[in-house]
Amino acid sequence: MRYTSTGSLLALSLLASLTHAQSYYDGQRPEIGDHSINWQTECSYLSPDTPLPSTPLQCANLEVPLDYVNHSSNDTLSLTLVKVPARREPVLGSIIMNPGGPGGSGVEVAIGRAKDLLTILGDHFNIVSFDPRGVRYTLPFHCFETDVAPPSNLGNSSDVAIGEAFSAGVAQSHNCQQSNSNTSALLSTAYVARDIIRIVDALGEDGLLRYWGLSYGTILGATVASMFPEKVGRLVVDGVANVVEYYYGLEPSALEDLDAVVEGFYSSCSKSPSTCALASDNSTTESIAAKVEDLLLSLKYQPMVVVSDDNSTELLTYTAIKSAMFSALYFPAGWMKLAVALQALTEGDPSGWVTYVGNGTNSERTPYAINGIRCGEASYRTNKLSNLDTFIAEISNVSEFGGLDIGPLNDLICASWLVRANEVYNGTWGVRTKHPVLVIGNTYDPVTPLSSARNMSSLLPGSVLLEHHGYGHTSLAQPSLCTARIMREYFTNGTLPNEGTICEATVPLWSNMTEQEALQPLNPNGTVNGLARREDLNEELLRAMRRLAGAFPGPLY
Ligand SMILES: *[C@@H]1O[C@H](CO)[C@@H](O)[C@H](O)[C@H]1NC(C)=O
Ligand SMILES: *[C@@H]1O[C@H](CO)[C@@H](O)[C@H](O)[C@H]1NC(C)=O
Ligand SMILES: *[C@@H]1O[C@H](CO)[C@@H](O)[C@H](O)[C@H]1NC(C)=O
Ligand SMILES: *[C@@H]1O[C@H](CO)[C@@H](O)[C@H](O)[C@H]1NC(C)=O
Ligand SMILES: *[C@@H]1O[C@H](CO)[C@@H](O)[C@H](O)[C@H]1NC(C)=O
Ligand SMILES: *[C@@H]1O[C@H](CO)[C@@H](O)[C@H](O)[C@H]1NC(C)=O
Ligand SMILES: *[C@@H]1O[C@H](CO)[C@@H](O)[C@H](O)[C@H]1NC(C)=O
Ligand SMILES: *[C@@H]1O[C@H](CO)[C@@H](O)[C@H](O)[C@H]1NC(C)=O
Ligand SMILES: *[C@@H]1O[C@H](CO)[C@@H](O)[C@H](O)[C@H]1NC(C)=O
Ligand SMILES: *[C@@H]1O[C@H](CO)[C@@H](O)[C@H](O)[C@H]1NC(C)=O
Ligand SMILES: *[C@@H]1O[C@H](CO)[C@@H](O)[C@H](O)[C@H]1NC(C)=O
Ligand SMILES: *[C@@H]1O[C@H](CO)[C@@H](O)[C@H](O)[C@H]1NC(C)=O
Repeated sequence: MRYTSTGSLLALSLLASLTHAQSYYDGQRPEIGDHSINWQTECSYLSPDTPLPSTPLQCANLEVPLDYVNHSSNDTLSLTLVKVPARREPVLGSIIMNPGGPGGSGVEVAIGRAKDLLTILGDHFNIVSFDPRGVRYTLPFHCFETDVAPPSNLGNSSDVAIGEAFSAGVAQSHNCQQSNSNTSALLSTAYVARDIIRIVDALGEDGLLRYWGLSYGTILGATVASMFPEKVGRLVVDGVANVVEYYYGLEPSALEDLDAVVEGFYSSCSKSPSTCALASDNSTTESIAAKVEDLLLSLKYQPMVVVSDDNSTELLTYTAIKSAMFSALYFPAGWMKLAVALQALTEGDPSGWVTYVGNGTNSERTPYAINGIRCGEASYRTNKLSNLDTFIAEISNVSEFGGLDIGPLNDLICASWLVRANEVYNGTWGVRTKHPVLVIGNTYDPVTPLSSARNMSSLLPGSVLLEHHGYGHTSLAQPSLCTARIMREYFTNGTLPNEGTICEATVPLWSNMTEQEALQPLNPNGTVNGLARREDLNEELLRAMRRLAGAFPGPLY
């Protein structure tokens, strides 16, 4: 997922030839590192307190060149890999999964969600994942001794917040450079793309990449596809970020659809008074919006105080509540709980909030990896906040809800970053891949708008864009049997949907209906409710998808 939920909330040339791809491939340094993987059923690198799934796991380390582009270095890096073996014959190969961030742990997500991920992909594929450079078990990027991010306020929480966030970025950059001086230049998407190709070759299958990337994983997917077009077997990107803006380092379009998501939250709530605690029978979109906006504004000038059972106290500030609300917009499955917590606050009762947020703490263990990776490869740099005035005005204009509050924060941190990675992908797009890519974009995604999915599809010739007509971040957030079927058909047979296909979400917003109930209205003969068909009516699949979607606020960042 994009933007960290803790602390800091969080132009191009077409037509490159395969000669260029070949030159990238030469940077693989075949003389260094492992050429096969020795899978073990004991996952010795995991800490003993890691809860293991009921489905079997295999673990391994793979030695890869530490610095592919430094031909005078033979140093290696040990990548941490995990494999969740397919449960059904015939086994059709391995799909490499990246959950996003940057900074998300592929190992953690694959282990934590093993069974559901197998189910979604149809049980005939192994899932292979890894911790990218900077993350957890692989060259972890830690900055402060305690690794606790300094508090960071939303951009419009006061008129000094933006300046403080910028200067906190300057301090953080200095600090992170001190603690990572020998590794920070070795973190980048281009390096990880090379690591992925080493994994593909060492898997000893057909030598082709099968890849599933979510959120930032779409940046990684577009990069690996463009650097190694001849290696692309199947590649799915879902929850697509704007790759050109990502590499530039200023991302004004990220929040383009955020206001539509907020509007959808209020309007669908007003129509669901039995399940949305913010609504009563006569509520309207406007009345609910006004109630929440009044709450946020009043918290800005007088935060609430909550006293816990153990008599510890906490301030519920504008930043705290709005950040949590923003995070919750990623996952419609958590909207009912969000509405309960917000409604209690509007009634002056803060006691429920601590439980609500407590349940939402995520398991990120390398919270600075997002900056270590993304800042080191962002091209835009400045030491003067005033140089960013135009950008801040532009992004403030993109979303009323979060343009100024959330929009600039990540980009401010990167602006003054001291390091540039040794290898950064040079931004050659438009390379034709061996097999075309499947691009999935939600109609209503708070951080990766549909326009970015269209943009990425235009940079990957032959790719097809599937529009997932749902809310939240990535198509997993509000599941659709139609989207699931198209993804399986693509991985299994290489079939792409027709351009212009739209899949409807299977479970409506604000619904706590069972899987059985959700499947009932689907026309068993064919076309109603998106493209769900008789053969899609799979209760186990829907249950697995809903468990993933319900992991609020979820590990799939
Ligand atoms: C990127 O690198 C490749 C290979 O070195 C080169 O052919 C291409 O022109 C470069 N593209 C840009 C935009 O610099
Ligand atoms: C390349 O590797 C050599 C040998 O380890 C090292 O001395 C040198 O500093 C490295 N160069 C860069 C640019 O990292
Ligand atoms: C790297 O390995 C090559 C081949 O084994 C060797 O010739 C070279 O001296 C090594 N370089 C360093 C810096 O160790
Ligand atoms: C910032 O907050 C003030 C109220 O505190 C509000 O009037 C203004 O519209 C907000 N600006 C933006 C861009 O959100
Ligand atoms: C970086 O430096 C630390 C401390 O000197 C050392 O423990 C670590 O092995 C080094 N890492 C690399 C990749 O050289
Ligand atoms: C759905 O939520 C409503 C309101 O909270 C509740 O009355 C109902 O029992 C729930 N239904 C199920 C199936 O959980
Ligand atoms: C809804 O109805 C209740 C009583 O029936 C009334 O007190 C309240 O003001 C109404 N709310 C709105 C937003 O019209
Ligand atoms: C919290 O404070 C109240 C009132 O002073 C006291 O009665 C209670 O025992 C305290 N609870 C704890 C867990 O300390
Ligand atoms: C939070 O988790 C606790 C314990 O798992 C549960 O009792 C409580 O209902 C949850 N609260 C919310 C708002 O989900
Ligand atoms: C803000 O958006 C409006 C309407 O789209 C446009 O006219 C204006 O130029 C924009 N301002 C900035 C600073 O981008
Ligand atoms: C793949 O194609 C085969 C042969 O046409 C077909 O039987 C199978 O249902 C397809 N599988 C998927 C998941 O689309
Ligand atoms: C589905 O097809 C069956 C047999 O072809 C037919 O009897 C039934 O009426 C159809 N149902 C709907 C909802 O169209």
